[in-house]
Amino acid sequence: MRFVLPVVLIACGPRVDDTAAAFGPYPEPSALPEVVDPQDPLTHADGQPVAGPLDWHGARAPELRQLFAHYVYGVSPAPPPVAVSVVSERQGALDGAATATELSIGYGDAPPIALLVFTPPGAGPFPVFLGLNKCGNHAVSDDPGVSLPTAWNEPDCDSSEAGRASRADYWSIRDAIAAGFAVATFHQSDVDPDDRADVAHADGVQPHFPPPPDPSSGWATIAAWSWGLSRAVDALATLPTVDASRIVVFGHSRRGKAALWAGACDPRIAMVWAHQSGTAGAALSRSFEGESIGALTTLFPHWLLPRFAEFAGEELRLPLDQHLLLALIAPRPLLVTDGADDAWADPAGAEQAVGLAAPVWPFLDPSAAPPEWRLRPGDHEVLPEDWATALAFASSR
Ligand code: GCU
Repeated sequence: MRFVLPVVLIACGPRVDDTAAAFGPYPEPSALPEVVDPQDPLTHADGQPVAGPLDWHGARAPELRQLFAHYVYGVSPAPPPVAVSVVSERQGALDGAATATELSIGYGDAPPIALLVFTPPGAGPFPVFLGLNKCGNHAVSDDPGVSLPTAWNEPDCDSSEAGRASRADYWSIRDAIAAGFAVATFHQSDVDPDDRADVAHADGVQPHFPPPPDPSSGWATIAAWSWGLSRAVDALATLPTVDASRIVVFGHSRRGKAALWAGACDPRIAMVWAHQSGTAGAALSRSFEGESIGALTTLFPHWLLPRFAEFAGEELRLPLDQHLLLALIAPRPLLVTDGADDAWADPAGAEQAVGLAAPVWPFLDPSAAPPEWRLRPGDHEVLPEDWATALAFASSR
């Protein structure tokens, strides 16, 4: 079976033709004023209050997406046409609990994304949790039929049969299936290897697409992952067993950062769950707790724009903060989760960010449930109890 989707005018990141000129100018970081309090989401950059939902969607939200694209994540290309083909479909996967479908997502001349989808038995359509995985699709479960990864892999991942189920502890797929959700995932390296040596992004999807008009705003690894999540949304929309109006994008830690930027950019994503996403994720940079911008951009220079690194030690000059990223998901459901012992991810900074973003939900839709931040005991990992929290949250929305 093969589907070819038309180009949809939804970009993971601002449109390439919707350039800085629309909202700028954007001063160099060192020329920005120090601002102690995080910016009010419901006030435009020029100090005018946001007049209502139309003003939010038409002006404030694009203004904020441009700010994040320019200073933090980079500008992603417009969505390309994708060619989705079903590689295999197996009933009785996961010891009879699910159907496993493997899809190949082709776009441009980039290597295809291999998307794995487990669906509950039956016709559906089922809501779905979609997330990136670190080590390959074979690593997320003990299902023996899932194909091995072909892209570059991390030193602590094993692309061979020996790596099967090696990350299954983090993936409560059987619990999700039992709760009536499908689970979809792809290997992050299919889009951009998490290789800190590759600051020029030569090994990812970036060289396969035209560079942005302003090369200093080229898209970095987190943005590429987010954009890949949108390509997976393109593919899920072709599956009759998946309810494309109920796609939850989730991620742990660096993949949580990508999930949030994907949710901010792609309105087809119906809910976001960011777990322990920390700095450049759900945690405020102005909280000055946990990982600093300097620590992040030194250890992981490929994740974000070099321009973001200029805010190291200069956090007060940021013309934005992460609560504004969360606000871009409003009025859709948003769940932010943390672990009490995971100080590096700055749980208190994420709690503050959720609180500062929350007024945007009733502003846009008086009936919308506000975003939630939940803390559990424990450290930096994904536990079955985290999945239980997210599944219950998604089921109630
Ligand atoms: C490092 C990094 C964090 C990131 C985390 C992860 O700790 O400093 O920013 O969230 O890795 O992805 O597990």
